[in-house]
Amino acid sequence: MIKQRIIVAGGAGYIGSHVCVELLSGGASLLIIDNFANSHPEAINRIKELAGAKVDLLQADLADPSQRKNIVDTVKRFQPTGGIHLAGLKAVGESVAEPARYYRINMGSALTMAEALEAAGAKMLVFSSSATVYGEENENPVAETGAASPTNPYGRTKYFIECMLKDIAEADPHWRIINLRYFNPVGAHPSGRIGENPNGVPNNLFPYIAQVAVGKREMLNIFGNDYPTKDGTGVRDYIHVCDLAKGHAAALRYLDQQENGCALDMNLGTGAGYSVLEAVAAFKRASNRDIPYAFAPRRDGDVAEIFANAELAENLLDWRAQKSLEDMCADHWRWQSQNPDGYET
Ligand code: UD1
Repeated sequence: MIKQRIIVAGGAGYIGSHVCVELLSGGASLLIIDNFANSHPEAINRIKELAGAKVDLLQADLADPSQRKNIVDTVKRFQPTGGIHLAGLKAVGESVAEPARYYRINMGSALTMAEALEAAGAKMLVFSSSATVYGEENENPVAETGAASPTNPYGRTKYFIECMLKDIAEADPHWRIINLRYFNPVGAHPSGRIGENPNGVPNNLFPYIAQVAVGKREMLNIFGNDYPTKDGTGVRDYIHVCDLAKGHAAALRYLDQQENGCALDMNLGTGAGYSVLEAVAAFKRASNRDIPYAFAPRRDGDVAEIFANAELAENLLDWRAQKSLEDMCADHWRWQSQNPDGYET
């Protein structure tokens, strides 16, 4: 295998930073493209520190047409072997309020990334998709053959990008593409040096719990306790972000070995579902802090239960999630307690 030279769009973000550490540790060279819209430049320093390696950085906005030429030229000069696309907006509620902005930024960024890789002759791409593309009708565990019917504009941008990449691969069999459908990424690097750094009030469960545990928020609202689940609260497939990062490295290795073009959808999850109450109890044990909560009405657009069938990734990539809910909580807590204000700490 020739040395991997990978463009990582969105490499300073929560998942991107863990992916970068994993790839650098495996010997790859990276060019990170990030506009720091929802990430912090300090993440780049921490990536270098953890991997003991240098990275190239292009601070640029993939969705801005006036920056397109510079991005394409910089990508070409880097002579990549492939790319990972994680850049985009990701807040469900915001996407309902500002759909046009979500379509412009998410679709535009993905398109520019694909075009830049094409111009550089590196037709290999791993896309950061989401289990949010699945609708509510699927039976658990959900396989990749499950129906796609996302319930909000954010989810639709993920699904439409998957479709767009498949069309591109269909037209040119040199393209090798995997759409990774993440379930619920949580946790942090065990060093406590990189982790999720949400702007404002967190939307997602783990960052919210972590901020309650550290004393930044008074209590957690649990959205719904009358779902038809084991204890009435929502059930999700939480996956440690380091397992997820290893899944990206495995996806690149797989694509690198393919002689024919392909465009695959692939779940990355553990295959196990935990309820909100189970997650709260596990975080309480890991942090040794009290996590006061109250039950609140269901949140619009939430499904009762979803967890992955992760057999495709296991069969094709020889990858499987290793870390437990306890690991996820312990590592998330280490990051939160050592960096109570994220990278501003
Ligand atoms: C959410 C997004 C999904 C996105 C994913 C990224 C929605 C509807 N879905 O997934 O599109 O891809 O994040 O990680 O926002 N919960 C509470 N209290 C809270 C927060 C969450 O009880 O303050 C519950 C939710 O109702 C759910 C579970 O915790 O049952 C997980 O929620 P969350 O972390 O937001 O993830 P998803 O909703 O699964």
